[in-house]
Amino acid sequence: MPRQSDTFFDKLEQTRVWQSVFRSGTGTSTLHRALAIQQNVFLHLFPTKVRRRMLGLGATWYLGTLTLGTFLILVITGVLLMLYYHPSVPQAYVDVKDLKYVVSSGLFLRNLHRWSAHAMVFLAFAHMFRVFYRGAYRPPREFNWVVGVILLLVTLLLSYTGYLLPWDQLAFWAITVGTNISATVPLVGNKFHFLMLGGNQVNANALLRFYVLHCVILPLVAVLFVVVHFWRIRKDGGLYVRETEPGNEDLQESPLTEMERQ
Ligand code: HEM
Repeated sequence: MPRQSDTFFDKLEQTRVWQSVFRSGTGTSTLHRALAIQQNVFLHLFPTKVRRRMLGLGATWYLGTLTLGTFLILVITGVLLMLYYHPSVPQAYVDVKDLKYVVSSGLFLRNLHRWSAHAMVFLAFAHMFRVFYRGAYRPPREFNWVVGVILLLVTLLLSYTGYLLPWDQLAFWAITVGTNISATVPLVGNKFHFLMLGGNQVNANALLRFYVLHCVILPLVAVLFVVVHFWRIRKDGGLYVRETEPGNEDLQESPLTEMERQ
């Protein structure tokens, strides 16, 4: 039965266009709310039911969510920086200087990107320590721990590849030292060094490769594993709650049913 109401949003929700996009309807019953989550392409990564205490600050310190927040800021500011930056040897350094002195709000944009990158590295480590401290890495969450380790590596690689892009002395020598270290790996080191730089020296080829890695390949890998990470939290029965903690006794009486995991 369509609801009779006069507000703009109520009328909007009753249009055919709205109802063709959001098929779950507009009710506020538990069923409607569950359907709204389950039938939305983005929201269905999350469970339809979440225990209230899992949403509290004490359960996670929101560290994973904050890590995701910094990643989103990095994507947005990164796309805006791409409008002003050319990954070529004559241009890269000049573009970064222009961002600082010429482009309106360019310095703010660059600093926001840089500080968010530092924050993401810090938060990913803090999140990992929180998971370890709470013992949330134990079965059935061991696979999600491995996914988390991959995310941490991708986060560090994103920072490392971004470091070359200003094409200043600091960047040039940091990448020279870093890639030379990788060349010392037995058997595959030299091949890997050549592959990363597109040659034997840090030059235009290396700048282009690091740019593609930083702006396309690594962000896509990160998004892929973040999706797996979130989906896996749901499949592992939601976030970990220590059952022996005072106040959590009810959890032993009502473990998540198979349906709630879906
Ligand atoms: C880009 C990096 C990462 C993002 C965006 C991310 C995001 C999240 C989010 C949003 C949660 C939900 C709970 C919370 O806020 O803490 C979570 C849980 C979890 N994460 Fe991460 N994470 C990342 C890296 C890692 C790392 C480095 C590890 C460990 C090596 C890890 C292991 C886990 C595990 C095991 C859980 C489930 C914890 C529980 O059940 O209490 N994650 N992650």
